[in-house]
Amino acid sequence: MIEICKVSKSYNKGKVKAVDEVSLTVHDGEIFGFLGPNGAGKTTLIKMITGILNADQGSIKINGRDIRGNPLEAKMQFGFVPDDPNIFSRLTGIEYLNFMADIYRVSSITRVQRIKELLERFEMSLAAADLIQSYSHGMKQKIIVIGALLHNPPVWILDEPMTGLDPRSSFDLKEMMREHADAGKTVFFSTHVLEVAEKLCDRLAIINKGRVIFCGSLQEIRAHAQANQSLENLFLELTENE
Ligand SMILES: Nc1ncnc2c1ncn2[C@@H]1O[C@H](COP(=O)(O)OP(=O)(O)OP(=O)(O)O)[C@@H](O)[C@H]1O
Ligand SMILES: [Mg+2]
Repeated sequence: MIEICKVSKSYNKGKVKAVDEVSLTVHDGEIFGFLGPNGAGKTTLIKMITGILNADQGSIKINGRDIRGNPLEAKMQFGFVPDDPNIFSRLTGIEYLNFMADIYRVSSITRVQRIKELLERFEMSLAAADLIQSYSHGMKQKIIVIGALLHNPPVWILDEPMTGLDPRSSFDLKEMMREHADAGKTVFFSTHVLEVAEKLCDRLAIINKGRVIFCGSLQEIRAHAQANQSLENLFLELTENE
């Protein structure tokens, strides 16, 4: 569960208000999609949830642990996939995964099994011995996803996770997100891809210029719409009207 309460963040000494009094609750057992146009504030909010940036105001709790007050415990609750997959390029894939397993204190026995399983699932077993700098964008994305899931975190937080993934890997990741939510855990992800949101999310929020302009289920969003209006049209309409 993620509880975001009246969170705000400005850049450039208050000149750019990137996130403006956002309150959201992501419940256990749901996939929650976070939608918005470029520059809406999605990444800024995700960086505050994950403790990379401090909020100017408001509080964020992950499974009850405050990200400011209790950062280490809060961080053990989630696995995070950032939007930019440029990481530790001079490590091999397997070195990176062992490094992540060390940080999250995954035991030697558990990590061997889990690394094997996840590498196979994402067809990365052969590439694991190569340097990350030799990987394609999608391969980097996959090794980050694997690293984020090694400690089997109850909460998944993913910023544009499908970017750069081929259809098979994207399908696998979506399937894993569904399984995770169905097991009663929490999945929070941002996306521009409305079809993905439409198919995958139990609930979603639309953010524009730092403010949440809609939060609810697809059915609820449809109640706003005219008959047969697509999510795309509705998204365009909502983000334009603001
Ligand atoms: N370091 C920074 N300094 C100043 N302004 C910033 C900084 N980072 C982000 N911004 C501004 O904050 C706003 C929100 O940016 P953010 O990256 O959170 O948007 P986003 O919704 O993730 O966009 P995208 O869909 O392009 O990833 C934008 O207006 C952006 O220009
Ligand atoms: Mg972003």
